[in-house]
Amino acid sequence: MSLRTIPVNQLTHEEALLELKLLKEELSRSDIAYYQKDAPFLQDWEYDELKRRNDAIEKRFPDLILKDSPSFKVGASTAEGFSKVELKVPMLSLSNIFKKEDIIDFTERIRRYLNIPSSEELEFIAEPKIDGLSFSARYEKGHFVQGSTRGDGAIGEDITANLKTLADLPLLLKGSQIPDVIEIRGEVYMKKSDFFALNQIQEQEGKRLFANPRNAAAGSLRQLDPLITKKRKLSLFAYTYGEVSHISWTSQSEFLTLIKSWGVPVSLEIKACSTNTELMNYYTDMSEKRASLDYDIDGVVYKVNRLDYQKRLGFITRSPRWAIAHKFPAQQAQTRIKKIRIQVGRSGVLTPVADLEPINVGGVMVSHATLHNLDEIERKDIREGDTVIVQRAGDVIPQIVQVILDKRPQHTKPFEFPTTCPECGSLVEREPDEAAHYCTGGLFCPRQVVERLKHFVSKDALDIEGFGKKYIETFFEWGWLHSPIDIFYLKERHYQDLLKTDGWGIKSVSNLFDAIHKAQQSTPLDRFIFALGIRQIGQSSARLLAEQYQTIENLLEQVYKETAMEDLIHINSIGKQTAANIIYFFKEPHNKNLIQTLTQLIHIEPFKTKKQRTRLTGKTIVFTGSLETMTRSEAKSLALAAGAKVSGNVSSKTDFVICGKDAGSKEKLALKMNIPIISEKDFRNMLEII
Ligand code: IVH
Repeated sequence: MSLRTIPVNQLTHEEALLELKLLKEELSRSDIAYYQKDAPFLQDWEYDELKRRNDAIEKRFPDLILKDSPSFKVGASTAEGFSKVELKVPMLSLSNIFKKEDIIDFTERIRRYLNIPSSEELEFIAEPKIDGLSFSARYEKGHFVQGSTRGDGAIGEDITANLKTLADLPLLLKGSQIPDVIEIRGEVYMKKSDFFALNQIQEQEGKRLFANPRNAAAGSLRQLDPLITKKRKLSLFAYTYGEVSHISWTSQSEFLTLIKSWGVPVSLEIKACSTNTELMNYYTDMSEKRASLDYDIDGVVYKVNRLDYQKRLGFITRSPRWAIAHKFPAQQAQTRIKKIRIQVGRSGVLTPVADLEPINVGGVMVSHATLHNLDEIERKDIREGDTVIVQRAGDVIPQIVQVILDKRPQHTKPFEFPTTCPECGSLVEREPDEAAHYCTGGLFCPRQVVERLKHFVSKDALDIEGFGKKYIETFFEWGWLHSPIDIFYLKERHYQDLLKTDGWGIKSVSNLFDAIHKAQQSTPLDRFIFALGIRQIGQSSARLLAEQYQTIENLLEQVYKETAMEDLIHINSIGKQTAANIIYFFKEPHNKNLIQTLTQLIHIEPFKTKKQRTRLTGKTIVFTGSLETMTRSEAKSLALAAGAKVSGNVSSKTDFVICGKDAGSKEKLALKMNIPIISEKDFRNMLEII
């Protein structure tokens, strides 16, 4: 009988002690997996249950409470709410314009106000309008002391602890002309790439999906538990200031250059414009660039550059007269769902997709939107025939924001998920605790086979140039392709057939075979792993696996061993479920054969480590005290590998001091010199690749 099944009131003293130790271990492993590795292995209720059992045992045996018991951990999430911050210089908003012609009104109004004739130059700074949440970060003597949201403009919420978890925010400003007091203001946002990754995790865990990066940033920043904020990868750009003790700059451009030199992130897309045409061109350029930026913008902002002019212009109620936001057209629109259809992906996931009456959303025609999974459909109560609001955020696949219930036709029915695969008729399954439904047909399902083939040759996988999705579909239909192996026999078997095919000539045929040959001669291990299309293994996990195993031979040796599970979950960000998927994939006889053959057909390059950026890259650090989870020399080599300089002495050049147990004079000196002191746990976090 396992300890855990013994009721607490029947535990002996010895059993209780042993179990408290085991519980501490498991809860602490779970904390690390949850907060640091983004790969929880316990469900929330399981975690709570362990906590409750720990508390009950401690209550019965108070003499056994361990000095580092999990119950001593302060859960910041128990806080009642945010405390308030008074904003002495209010955080204002901007007036908006929507048409290019309005630019002329804006600049002429300013010229009239300042009495500047059109013959004289008047410079503006044009900036992207970041679609995030505004923040104010107060620095005193260069040290970050308080963070606030905008709140109602005069009173914000105290988000000091949350802002501190952002790698982008310098805790100490470094450089010249730093005022004694300065509130640096800007926007916290989530990168589109981080947003996709977050939603992928939310989806895998069956949690609520965020509609767009802005909502995700808001939901992540305004967390009572800063550890959640930390987990969610937020970024920031600064563009203005609030209270400041001394202003040494004379223009917006000087201000931006200065804060950049202090280590504060500023957008790279900022441009000085002196004429209406230049402002208009900036707007056009940014509308075109918008989709390719890794952050969402909802317009651009024009600001009078000279500070003395800004002062003279002043404010109209809640917005400055010297700046204006030129907004992009709305990215949302209303339309009707004609049908909900099910799309089958390469690993058998069934994704519901809404076919829409085509609609122009912010300049792009949209005719379908992803519905993600059944939970999402039920949560939003989406039905065929409904009128809905569709949203496009940057280059994100269009999504349905909400149903307009007033416009729902009579007699609509809630959507019923099919019980058999629409492509092959196999049974549909849903794994417990997963949001997705799967087709159980495997390689019997033609759609899964085709999608796997498309994935195999795609750009981030084997990168076989010229082997487009269309050709995979056609070759599959003609019976030329069944498995990835057939790709490498195409030349031998179908060279002549292909030459005779409409649309193919000597040149295109030999280009295709050259590209196949090129992939065969050299494919890096991480791309090969990604190409296999293992469930939940995207590009970054494939990279981590390649990094762990280095060569395909080693991977194939290790993955069948009994220790494989343990090895895999030790890889950062690979959870129990993903590890199980990996092992299952490699053990499955079809896959085993496939991989054996592929390794004979393709030269798979061992993994080459590239220098990766971490939050320690370029930083000078000092260790003091004894570390708990590693030796000093281990810590030093980890730091060096992460690109940090390790010094023996605390000086003005030191960026961080890592304090272990029983730290002595170095900690004191760091405190005196206001150098950030971080724990071993923080240090471990900072080793992560960014
Ligand atoms: S300047 C006193 N610049 O847009 C002027 N604001 O709709 C303060 N925003 O409240 C604002 N990017 O949260 C400025 N480059 C930028 C901006 C920006 C985004 C936000 C900011 C502001 C809102 C107004």
